[in-house]
Amino acid sequence: MKRVTLINGDGIGPEISDAVMKIFTASGVEIEWEIQTAGENVIAYEGTPLPNRVIESIKRNKVALKAPVTTPIGKGFRSVNVQLRKELDLYANIRPCKNLPSVKTRFDNVDLVVVRENTEDLYAGIERQVDENTAESIKVITKKASERICRFAFEYAVKNGRKEVCVVTKANIMKLSDGLFLDTYRKVSEDYPTIKKREILVDNLCMQLVQDPTRFDVLVLPNLYGDIVSDLTAGLIGGLGVAQGANIGLDCAVFEPVHGSAPDIKGQNKANPTALLLSGIEMLKYLNEFDYAQKIEKALFKTLQSGICTVDIGGHATTTEFTDAIIKNLV
Ligand code: NAI
Repeated sequence: MKRVTLINGDGIGPEISDAVMKIFTASGVEIEWEIQTAGENVIAYEGTPLPNRVIESIKRNKVALKAPVTTPIGKGFRSVNVQLRKELDLYANIRPCKNLPSVKTRFDNVDLVVVRENTEDLYAGIERQVDENTAESIKVITKKASERICRFAFEYAVKNGRKEVCVVTKANIMKLSDGLFLDTYRKVSEDYPTIKKREILVDNLCMQLVQDPTRFDVLVLPNLYGDIVSDLTAGLIGGLGVAQGANIGLDCAVFEPVHGSAPDIKGQNKANPTALLLSGIEMLKYLNEFDYAQKIEKALFKTLQSGICTVDIGGHATTTEFTDAIIKNLV
Protein backbone atom coordinates (compact mmCIF):
# COMPACT_ATOMS: atom_id res chain seq x y z
CA MET A 1 0.00 0.00 0.00
CA LYS A 2 1.45 3.37 -1.02
CA ARG A 3 0.51 6.40 1.01
CA VAL A 4 -0.10 9.63 -0.88
CA THR A 5 -1.15 13.08 0.33
CA LEU A 6 -4.34 14.30 -1.33
CA ILE A 7 -5.04 18.03 -1.17
CA ASN A 8 -8.67 18.17 -2.20
CA GLY A 9 -8.64 21.96 -2.70
CA ASP A 10 -11.65 24.24 -2.96
CA GLY A 11 -14.08 25.38 -5.67
CA ILE A 12 -14.48 22.29 -7.90
CA GLY A 13 -11.53 20.66 -6.10
CA PRO A 14 -13.54 18.38 -3.76
CA GLU A 15 -15.85 17.22 -6.62
CA ILE A 16 -13.04 16.20 -8.95
CA SER A 17 -10.99 14.72 -6.06
CA ASP A 18 -13.94 12.48 -5.14
CA ALA A 19 -14.25 11.39 -8.77
CA VAL A 20 -10.56 10.47 -8.99
CA MET A 21 -10.57 8.63 -5.66
CA LYS A 22 -13.63 6.62 -6.76
CA ILE A 23 -11.93 5.66 -10.05
CA PHE A 24 -8.68 4.71 -8.28
CA THR A 25 -10.53 2.57 -5.72
CA ALA A 26 -12.50 0.80 -8.48
CA SER A 27 -9.27 0.09 -10.38
CA GLY A 28 -7.88 -1.85 -7.40
CA VAL A 29 -4.67 0.18 -7.11
CA GLU A 30 -3.38 0.12 -3.56
CA ILE A 31 -3.16 3.77 -2.64
CA GLU A 32 -3.85 5.06 0.83
CA TRP A 33 -4.94 8.70 0.65
CA GLU A 34 -3.93 11.05 3.43
CA ILE A 35 -6.45 13.81 2.85
CA GLN A 36 -5.26 17.32 3.68
CA THR A 37 -7.46 20.38 3.42
CA ALA A 38 -5.98 23.71 2.32
CA GLY A 39 -7.13 27.00 0.82
CA GLU A 40 -9.91 29.44 1.56
CA ASN A 41 -11.95 27.08 3.70
CA VAL A 42 -9.26 26.49 6.31
CA ILE A 43 -8.26 30.14 6.89
CA ALA A 44 -11.06 30.67 9.42
CA TYR A 45 -9.94 27.72 11.58
CA GLU A 46 -6.17 27.71 11.15
CA GLY A 47 -5.33 31.31 10.26
CA THR A 48 -3.56 30.36 7.03
CA PRO A 49 -4.57 28.74 3.73
CA LEU A 50 -1.52 26.46 3.89
CA PRO A 51 -1.11 25.02 7.39
CA ASN A 52 2.20 23.38 8.23
CA ARG A 53 0.51 19.97 8.52
CA VAL A 54 0.04 19.97 4.71
CA ILE A 55 3.74 20.55 4.08
CA GLU A 56 4.69 17.96 6.73
CA SER A 57 2.33 15.40 5.17
CA ILE A 58 3.93 15.82 1.72
CA LYS A 59 7.44 15.70 3.20
CA ARG A 60 6.50 12.44 4.93
CA ASN A 61 4.80 10.78 1.96
CA LYS A 62 7.04 12.35 -0.74
CA VAL A 63 4.16 12.33 -3.22
CA ALA A 64 0.92 14.31 -3.43
CA LEU A 65 -2.04 14.69 -5.73
CA LYS A 66 -3.40 18.19 -5.55
CA ALA A 67 -6.73 19.66 -6.64
CA PRO A 68 -6.87 23.42 -7.29
CA VAL A 69 -6.89 25.96 -4.51
CA THR A 70 -8.35 29.48 -4.77
CA THR A 71 -6.02 32.46 -4.41
CA PRO A 72 -8.02 35.60 -3.75
CA ILE A 73 -6.84 38.51 -5.93
CA GLY A 74 -5.46 41.57 -4.11
CA LYS A 75 -3.90 41.88 -0.70
CA GLY A 76 -3.85 39.05 1.81
CA PHE A 77 -2.36 35.58 1.84
CA ARG A 78 0.27 34.41 -0.58
CA SER A 79 -0.86 31.82 -3.16
CA VAL A 80 -0.95 28.30 -1.70
CA ASN A 81 0.43 26.99 -4.97
CA VAL A 82 3.38 29.35 -5.10
CA GLN A 83 4.13 28.76 -1.42
CA LEU A 84 3.94 24.98 -1.74
CA ARG A 85 6.26 24.93 -4.73
CA LYS A 86 8.71 27.18 -2.89
CA GLU A 87 8.61 25.37 0.48
CA LEU A 88 9.14 21.95 -1.10
CA ASP A 89 11.52 23.28 -3.74
CA LEU A 90 9.40 21.76 -6.50
CA TYR A 91 11.50 23.42 -9.13
CA ALA A 92 10.20 21.79 -12.30
CA ASN A 93 6.64 22.14 -13.51
CA ILE A 94 5.88 19.68 -16.32
CA ARG A 95 2.79 20.19 -18.42
CA PRO A 96 2.45 17.64 -21.22
CA CYS A 97 -0.01 18.61 -23.91
CA LYS A 98 -1.29 15.87 -26.21
CA ASN A 99 -4.57 15.35 -28.07
CA LEU A 100 -7.07 13.06 -26.35
CA PRO A 101 -9.19 10.54 -28.24
CA SER A 102 -12.43 12.01 -29.62
CA VAL A 103 -11.84 15.47 -28.16
CA LYS A 104 -12.27 17.56 -31.29
CA THR A 105 -9.81 20.44 -31.58
CA ARG A 106 -8.31 22.53 -34.36
CA PHE A 107 -5.18 20.35 -34.59
CA ASP A 108 -5.06 16.54 -34.47
CA ASN A 109 -1.46 15.77 -33.66
CA VAL A 110 -0.42 18.07 -30.85
CA ASP A 111 2.25 16.45 -28.69
CA LEU A 112 4.43 18.89 -26.79
CA VAL A 113 5.65 19.38 -23.25
CA VAL A 114 5.93 22.65 -21.36
CA VAL A 115 8.75 22.60 -18.78
CA ARG A 116 8.25 25.65 -16.57
CA GLU A 117 10.70 26.95 -13.97
CA ASN A 118 8.68 26.92 -10.78
CA THR A 119 10.46 28.83 -8.03
CA GLU A 120 11.44 32.34 -9.10
CA ASP A 121 10.88 35.01 -11.79
CA LEU A 122 8.01 37.40 -10.98
CA TYR A 123 6.61 34.70 -8.67
CA ALA A 124 9.35 35.43 -6.13
CA GLY A 125 6.69 37.70 -4.60
CA ILE A 126 8.99 40.70 -4.18
CA GLU A 127 6.76 43.70 -4.67
CA ARG A 128 6.67 47.20 -3.26
CA GLN A 129 4.47 50.21 -3.38
CA VAL A 130 6.80 53.01 -4.43
CA ASP A 131 4.15 55.67 -3.89
CA GLU A 132 0.38 55.69 -4.20
CA ASN A 133 0.57 55.77 -8.00
CA THR A 134 3.40 53.32 -8.57
CA ALA A 135 4.02 49.67 -7.69
CA GLU A 136 6.99 47.48 -8.56
CA SER A 137 7.42 43.72 -8.91
CA ILE A 138 10.91 42.28 -9.09
CA LYS A 139 11.74 39.59 -11.63
CA VAL A 140 14.39 37.31 -10.15
CA ILE A 141 16.31 34.94 -12.43
CA THR A 142 19.30 33.04 -11.02
CA LYS A 143 21.90 30.94 -12.75
CA LYS A 144 21.30 28.08 -10.30
CA ALA A 145 17.55 27.82 -10.93
CA SER A 146 17.99 28.33 -14.69
CA GLU A 147 20.65 25.63 -14.80
CA ARG A 148 18.61 22.99 -13.04
CA ILE A 149 15.44 23.63 -15.05
CA CYS A 150 17.31 23.58 -18.38
CA ARG A 151 19.09 20.39 -17.34
CA PHE A 152 15.75 18.90 -16.25
CA ALA A 153 14.27 19.71 -19.68
CA PHE A 154 17.17 18.06 -21.53
CA GLU A 155 17.13 15.01 -19.23
CA TYR A 156 13.36 14.75 -19.75
CA ALA A 157 13.89 14.89 -23.52
CA VAL A 158 16.50 12.12 -23.41
CA LYS A 159 14.42 9.85 -21.14
CA ASN A 160 11.22 10.35 -23.10
CA GLY A 161 12.61 10.02 -26.61
CA ARG A 162 12.04 13.67 -27.47
CA LYS A 163 14.05 15.31 -30.23
CA GLU A 164 14.23 19.01 -29.42
CA VAL A 165 14.35 21.39 -26.45
CA CYS A 166 13.36 24.94 -27.36
CA VAL A 167 14.12 27.77 -24.93
CA VAL A 168 11.54 30.56 -24.67
CA THR A 169 12.47 34.04 -23.44
CA LYS A 170 12.12 37.74 -24.11
CA ALA A 171 15.88 38.21 -23.95
CA ASN A 172 15.80 40.97 -26.57
CA ILE A 173 14.09 43.21 -23.99
CA MET A 174 15.05 41.71 -20.60
CA LYS A 175 18.68 41.39 -21.53
CA LEU A 176 19.97 40.64 -18.05
CA SER A 177 17.30 38.37 -16.52
CA ASP A 178 16.04 36.48 -19.60
CA GLY A 179 19.54 36.86 -21.03
CA LEU A 180 20.89 34.84 -18.11
CA PHE A 181 18.24 32.15 -18.64
CA LEU A 182 19.13 31.95 -22.34
CA ASP A 183 22.89 31.88 -21.73
CA THR A 184 22.46 29.13 -19.17
CA TYR A 185 20.35 27.10 -21.61
CA ARG A 186 23.10 27.44 -24.22
CA LYS A 187 25.74 26.16 -21.80
CA VAL A 188 23.63 23.24 -20.54
CA SER A 189 22.66 22.28 -24.11
CA GLU A 190 26.32 21.51 -24.89
CA ASP A 191 26.03 18.42 -22.66
CA TYR A 192 23.22 17.00 -24.85
CA PRO A 193 24.55 16.66 -28.39
CA THR A 194 21.75 14.29 -29.49
CA ILE A 195 18.95 16.77 -28.69
CA LYS A 196 18.16 19.57 -31.14
CA LYS A 197 18.40 23.14 -29.82
CA ARG A 198 16.14 26.05 -30.66
CA GLU A 199 15.60 29.57 -29.33
CA ILE A 200 12.42 31.60 -29.68
CA LEU A 201 10.93 34.80 -28.25
CA VAL A 202 7.75 34.24 -26.26
CA ASP A 203 5.53 36.45 -28.44
CA ASN A 204 6.61 34.67 -31.61
CA LEU A 205 6.09 31.32 -29.86
CA CYS A 206 2.47 32.21 -29.02
CA MET A 207 1.76 33.18 -32.62
CA GLN A 208 3.36 30.00 -33.98
CA LEU A 209 1.60 27.77 -31.43
CA VAL A 210 -1.82 28.89 -32.59
CA GLN A 211 -0.80 28.54 -36.25
CA ASP A 212 0.79 25.11 -35.99
CA PRO A 213 1.65 23.57 -32.59
CA THR A 214 3.15 20.50 -34.26
CA ARG A 215 6.29 22.59 -34.86
CA PHE A 216 7.18 22.21 -31.18
CA ASP A 217 8.43 19.41 -28.94
CA VAL A 218 9.82 20.27 -25.46
CA LEU A 219 9.65 23.94 -24.39
CA VAL A 220 11.63 25.28 -21.43
CA LEU A 221 10.53 28.62 -19.98
CA PRO A 222 10.95 30.93 -17.00
CA ASN A 223 8.01 30.83 -14.56
CA LEU A 224 5.61 33.49 -15.85
CA TYR A 225 5.90 32.66 -19.55
CA GLY A 226 5.48 28.98 -18.63
CA ASP A 227 2.28 29.75 -16.74
CA ILE A 228 0.73 31.70 -19.59
CA VAL A 229 1.94 29.49 -22.43
CA SER A 230 0.68 26.33 -20.72
CA ASP A 231 -2.87 27.72 -20.58
CA LEU A 232 -2.52 28.46 -24.30
CA THR A 233 -1.34 24.92 -25.00
CA ALA A 234 -4.18 23.56 -22.82
CA GLY A 235 -6.54 25.36 -25.20
CA LEU A 236 -5.00 23.50 -28.13
CA ILE A 237 -6.11 20.10 -26.79
CA GLY A 238 -9.58 20.92 -25.50
CA GLY A 239 -9.13 23.38 -22.66
CA LEU A 240 -8.28 23.46 -19.00
CA GLY A 241 -10.51 20.50 -18.15
CA VAL A 242 -8.06 18.12 -19.80
CA ALA A 243 -4.65 19.68 -19.09
CA GLN A 244 -2.51 17.78 -16.61
CA GLY A 245 0.62 18.83 -14.73
CA ALA A 246 3.30 17.81 -12.26
CA ASN A 247 5.65 19.69 -9.92
CA ILE A 248 8.88 17.82 -9.38
CA GLY A 249 11.58 18.49 -6.80
CA LEU A 250 14.58 16.57 -5.54
CA ASP A 251 12.69 15.01 -2.60
CA CYS A 252 8.97 15.37 -3.37
CA ALA A 253 6.54 15.52 -6.26
CA VAL A 254 3.10 17.13 -6.40
CA PHE A 255 0.82 16.21 -9.30
CA GLU A 256 -1.90 18.73 -10.16
CA PRO A 257 -3.97 19.92 -13.10
CA VAL A 258 -3.17 23.19 -14.87
CA HIS A 259 -6.61 24.63 -14.11
CA GLY A 260 -7.79 26.59 -11.09
CA SER A 261 -10.73 26.12 -8.75
CA ALA A 262 -13.32 27.19 -11.37
CA PRO A 263 -15.65 29.00 -8.94
CA ASP A 264 -18.08 29.69 -11.81
CA ILE A 265 -19.08 26.00 -11.99
CA LYS A 266 -18.50 24.97 -8.38
CA GLY A 267 -21.08 22.58 -6.92
CA GLN A 268 -22.93 22.12 -10.24
CA ASN A 269 -21.74 18.59 -11.06
CA LYS A 270 -20.29 20.00 -14.30
CA ALA A 271 -16.54 19.92 -13.64
CA ASN A 272 -14.35 17.77 -15.84
CA PRO A 273 -12.18 15.49 -13.67
CA THR A 274 -9.96 14.49 -16.64
CA ALA A 275 -7.10 16.90 -15.88
CA LEU A 276 -6.84 15.71 -12.28
CA LEU A 277 -7.24 12.09 -13.38
CA LEU A 278 -4.45 12.42 -15.97
CA SER A 279 -2.26 14.03 -13.29
CA GLY A 280 -3.10 11.05 -11.06
CA ILE A 281 -2.14 8.64 -13.85
CA GLU A 282 1.23 10.37 -14.17
CA MET A 283 1.58 10.05 -10.41
CA LEU A 284 1.02 6.28 -10.67
CA LYS A 285 3.78 6.07 -13.28
CA TYR A 286 6.06 8.04 -10.93
CA LEU A 287 5.23 5.45 -8.24
CA ASN A 288 6.07 2.63 -10.71
CA GLU A 289 2.43 1.50 -10.80
CA PHE A 290 2.51 1.23 -14.60
CA ASP A 291 -0.19 -1.47 -14.94
CA TYR A 292 -2.76 0.50 -13.00
CA ALA A 293 -1.78 3.71 -14.79
CA GLN A 294 -2.45 1.98 -18.11
CA LYS A 295 -5.68 0.40 -16.88
CA ILE A 296 -7.14 3.75 -15.79
CA GLU A 297 -5.90 5.56 -18.90
CA LYS A 298 -7.52 2.93 -21.14
CA ALA A 299 -10.83 3.30 -19.30
CA LEU A 300 -10.66 7.09 -19.66
CA PHE A 301 -9.87 6.91 -23.39
CA LYS A 302 -12.60 4.31 -24.00
CA THR A 303 -15.12 6.56 -22.25
CA LEU A 304 -14.10 9.56 -24.35
CA GLN A 305 -14.19 7.46 -27.54
CA SER A 306 -17.73 6.36 -26.72
CA GLY A 307 -18.75 10.03 -26.81
CA ILE A 308 -19.36 10.38 -23.08
CA CYS A 309 -17.76 13.59 -21.85
CA THR A 310 -18.46 16.72 -19.84
CA VAL A 311 -19.86 19.99 -21.18
CA ASP A 312 -16.50 21.82 -21.41
CA ILE A 313 -15.34 19.46 -24.17
CA GLY A 314 -18.63 19.33 -26.04
CA GLY A 315 -20.55 16.60 -24.18
CA HIS A 316 -23.60 16.40 -21.94
CA ALA A 317 -22.40 14.18 -19.08
CA THR A 318 -22.29 15.38 -15.50
CA THR A 319 -19.15 14.82 -13.43
CA THR A 320 -20.89 11.85 -11.80
CA GLU A 321 -22.05 10.27 -15.09
CA PHE A 322 -18.61 10.65 -16.63
CA THR A 323 -16.93 9.17 -13.55
CA ASP A 324 -19.33 6.21 -13.46
CA ALA A 325 -18.73 5.56 -17.18
CA ILE A 326 -14.95 5.44 -16.61
CA ILE A 327 -15.46 2.99 -13.73
CA LYS A 328 -17.62 0.76 -15.98
CA ASN A 329 -14.86 0.75 -18.58
CA LEU A 330 -12.17 -0.43 -16.16
CA VAL A 331 -11.20 -3.94 -17.20
P1 NAI B 1 -9.81 28.45 -13.67
O1 NAI B 1 -8.82 27.53 -14.28
O2 NAI B 1 -10.33 28.08 -12.34
O3 NAI B 1 -11.07 28.60 -14.66
C1 NAI B 1 -10.98 29.15 -15.97
C2 NAI B 1 -12.17 28.65 -16.81
O4 NAI B 1 -11.98 27.26 -17.10
C3 NAI B 1 -13.50 28.75 -16.06
O5 NAI B 1 -14.51 29.11 -16.98
C4 NAI B 1 -13.73 27.35 -15.54
O6 NAI B 1 -15.09 27.01 -15.38
C5 NAI B 1 -13.07 26.48 -16.62
N1 NAI B 1 -12.53 25.24 -16.03
C6 NAI B 1 -11.39 25.12 -15.29
N2 NAI B 1 -11.22 23.86 -14.89
C7 NAI B 1 -12.28 23.17 -15.38
C8 NAI B 1 -12.67 21.80 -15.29
N3 NAI B 1 -11.96 20.88 -14.63
N4 NAI B 1 -13.81 21.42 -15.90
C9 NAI B 1 -14.55 22.32 -16.59
N5 NAI B 1 -14.24 23.61 -16.71
C10 NAI B 1 -13.11 24.04 -16.11
O7 NAI B 1 -9.13 29.89 -13.64
P2 NAI B 1 -9.56 31.22 -12.87
O8 NAI B 1 -11.02 31.41 -12.94
O9 NAI B 1 -8.66 32.22 -13.41
O10 NAI B 1 -9.11 30.96 -11.36
C11 NAI B 1 -10.00 30.58 -10.31
C12 NAI B 1 -9.19 30.42 -9.03
O11 NAI B 1 -8.31 29.33 -9.13
C13 NAI B 1 -8.33 31.65 -8.66
O12 NAI B 1 -8.45 31.87 -7.28
C14 NAI B 1 -6.93 31.20 -9.01
O13 NAI B 1 -5.96 31.85 -8.22
C15 NAI B 1 -6.99 29.72 -8.70
N6 NAI B 1 -6.00 28.93 -9.42
C16 NAI B 1 -5.47 27.86 -8.77
C17 NAI B 1 -4.58 27.04 -9.41
C18 NAI B 1 -4.06 25.87 -8.65
O14 NAI B 1 -4.54 25.54 -7.58
N7 NAI B 1 -3.06 25.19 -9.18
C19 NAI B 1 -4.14 27.29 -10.78
C20 NAI B 1 -4.82 28.40 -11.40
C21 NAI B 1 -5.69 29.18 -10.73
